[in-house]
Amino acid sequence: MLTGNRPHLPTASLILMGILLIMYACNSTSVSKVSQVSPKIESSQDIIELKIDSILALMTLQEKIGQTAQRGKSSRVKDIPPELKEALKKGEIGSFLNVTSKEDVTELQRIAVEESPRGIPLIFARDVIHGYKTIFPIPLGQAATFNPSLTEKGARIAAIEASSNGIRWTFAPMLDISRDPRWGRISESGGEDPYLTSRMAEAYVKGFQGDDLTDPTSIAACAKHFVGYGAAEGGRDYNTANINDFSLHNNYLKPFKASVDAGVATFMSGFNEVNGVPASGNQYLMRSILREEWGFDGFVVSDWESIIEMIPHGFAADEKHAAALGANAMVDMEMTSTSYQQYLAELIAEGKVSEEILDEMVRNILRIKYRLGLFDNPYFDPSDEKLYAPEHLDAAKQSALESMVLLKNNRNTLPLGRTKKIALIGPLADKGHEQLGTWTFDGEKNKTITPKMALQKDRSLDVTFSEGLSFSRDLNKDKFEAAIQTAESADVIVFCAGEEAILSGEAHSRADISLPGAQEELILELAKTGKPIILVVMAGRPITFERIIDKVDAVIMAWHPGTMGGPALKDILIGDASPSGKLPVTWPKMNGQMPIYYNHKMTGRPVKPDEFVEMYEIPIEAWQSSLGNTTHYLDAGYLPAFPFGFGMSYSSFDYSNITLSSTKITKDEALTVTVTVKNTGNYQAQETVQLYFRDMVGSLTRPVKELLRFEKVLLKPGESKNLSFTFTAQELAFYGPSKKWIVEPGTFKLWVAKHAMDTTNELEFTLE
Ligand code: BGC
Repeated sequence: MLTGNRPHLPTASLILMGILLIMYACNSTSVSKVSQVSPKIESSQDIIELKIDSILALMTLQEKIGQTAQRGKSSRVKDIPPELKEALKKGEIGSFLNVTSKEDVTELQRIAVEESPRGIPLIFARDVIHGYKTIFPIPLGQAATFNPSLTEKGARIAAIEASSNGIRWTFAPMLDISRDPRWGRISESGGEDPYLTSRMAEAYVKGFQGDDLTDPTSIAACAKHFVGYGAAEGGRDYNTANINDFSLHNNYLKPFKASVDAGVATFMSGFNEVNGVPASGNQYLMRSILREEWGFDGFVVSDWESIIEMIPHGFAADEKHAAALGANAMVDMEMTSTSYQQYLAELIAEGKVSEEILDEMVRNILRIKYRLGLFDNPYFDPSDEKLYAPEHLDAAKQSALESMVLLKNNRNTLPLGRTKKIALIGPLADKGHEQLGTWTFDGEKNKTITPKMALQKDRSLDVTFSEGLSFSRDLNKDKFEAAIQTAESADVIVFCAGEEAILSGEAHSRADISLPGAQEELILELAKTGKPIILVVMAGRPITFERIIDKVDAVIMAWHPGTMGGPALKDILIGDASPSGKLPVTWPKMNGQMPIYYNHKMTGRPVKPDEFVEMYEIPIEAWQSSLGNTTHYLDAGYLPAFPFGFGMSYSSFDYSNITLSSTKITKDEALTVTVTVKNTGNYQAQETVQLYFRDMVGSLTRPVKELLRFEKVLLKPGESKNLSFTFTAQELAFYGPSKKWIVEPGTFKLWVAKHAMDTTNELEFTLE
């Protein structure tokens, strides 16, 4: 029922709605969906469509355009400008973003429901990216957990917290495949792999949206940025993405498709162009793929002013032209800029945009407002705030714990146990704000537990602290001496290095991804003390550390771990928990290796490790020849610092009894790979078993490896578990030269592996 706006509709409108409902129920045609009307009301979705028909029939052109307007304010501005309230009263606004006070949310919703002509409720949006108040690890860190169920739980908690402050729509998850760590927004991504990002996409959508969108704790998710934003040239934000159609389908689109299959309510169009056409005016992406091929029936919001940014792109001549391009691509809602509001009526009058398109755009928006139950329940209960509940903090700690990746551990430096005297040093050891990471508008540093706080709170530990540098970019060495003295009087150094939160995220790409400031110099000085150094990196991307990697004994990648990062790190350092994170991105040795990713193609001249001649080994005046070198750098070789999927444990694991259910299958059959995993070490720990495949010959060359499945298992020392991975031949399909998904007969290889470069357990089968 239209209880939310019923009292405000004029009597004539109510009568018309009644007639429409009766017409529909009596097998008549409805107003705008003549061809699609089914003979009877079959589901709640049909009823929603009917209700939308009824409202659309009553709305003026201006009110329809109003629904496509998302207005807001910058996060830094406090009050809602009065002119926005006036526009709302006239029905000229469909959504707000960044309205942060509960009073404002309630008041604006009251105006929309009680004073605007149709009483259509607003939908309030916010960037709730990796937590609302309780902050979870940055999405790249969450991907490193290889544990989608933790991410689902984190997104559920974020939704519970955000909705208790009136937010019913988040601009997450970001599903941009990221193969270049220079790109600042890699921190917001699930990394480089389409399969892992797809599993995470489903987890975020399920978590944010819950089982039932009408539940007041459910918030609409938004798959962004459709599409190819992560392929920005050179990792420079907002830059050109040239992605051929095959790579688009086989890599970049996959996580978005997974989000549609998981029922994501909304999409966001990217800032970037794809092959010369900006995403926000791209009919191929927005209509042919998203709507027609995938059947997405939610709505698409532009990114912040991305409609009018088609002007500087050189794709639109002016705002009017931009509005026509955006609307004709069916980007349903315009974020912050006002080109639709200013020009759509004119464009419709001139026949440059059809009113049917506008009706579809409004229909898409209203459909989601109905699905969220906003017409029945436009308000939230401001007294029922659910922030920082103990179970939220526990989940954030577990997520942080499982996100941390042990990259190096010489001579079992870790875990430390409780008897060693620890010198805690470094600019990120006690920085609540920085450890929250990018996109944490609502996170609070005074609620954040830092490594220093967590370690010093544990009375059984002997910890002294000296930061050495005040912040990650600090070049001032005045505090070096004190830090060295602290180190000298301890048994071991825990050095918390990395990047401040502001050094990754939107518009924060870096050309050099090594540790900023004087951090490397301080580490080199500390190394002279001879004390073992444990390097903890908190950053939004992989960090290259050629100059210092040999000077440190252990490395933990902690990403930006969020509110509970300190306690999680403490458990790992001491040995109360074993690290279990795995890299969701290939980790380069040097800047020049980027972009870098494991699922690349093979060349005609693959690397021959035995023939590789390193730059300083080349004889003077060597004769012009390849010298055996092929597709790699003379000065960086062909290997990354650490491969995708890599991460160490305090325990060790043995894989045995690896079997394949058959060595031949047809296109309609499935295969099962089984493996026994045994914990052969002394710690209870989790292991992530990864299954990769390669299609050896294709009508389109295939990647050298593709992740097909993974499973994370918890094992006690000595314990074994049997795992089985079943997949159908159809899951090996690729988007091929015929521009269709195909499964080609031939030989396939499989690897049951610990990371992308582990070839120990190789299997083979034939597809007939
Ligand atoms: C970002 C989006 C974000 C939006 C709203 C844009 O600048 O690209 O990811 O959701 O702002 O804050």
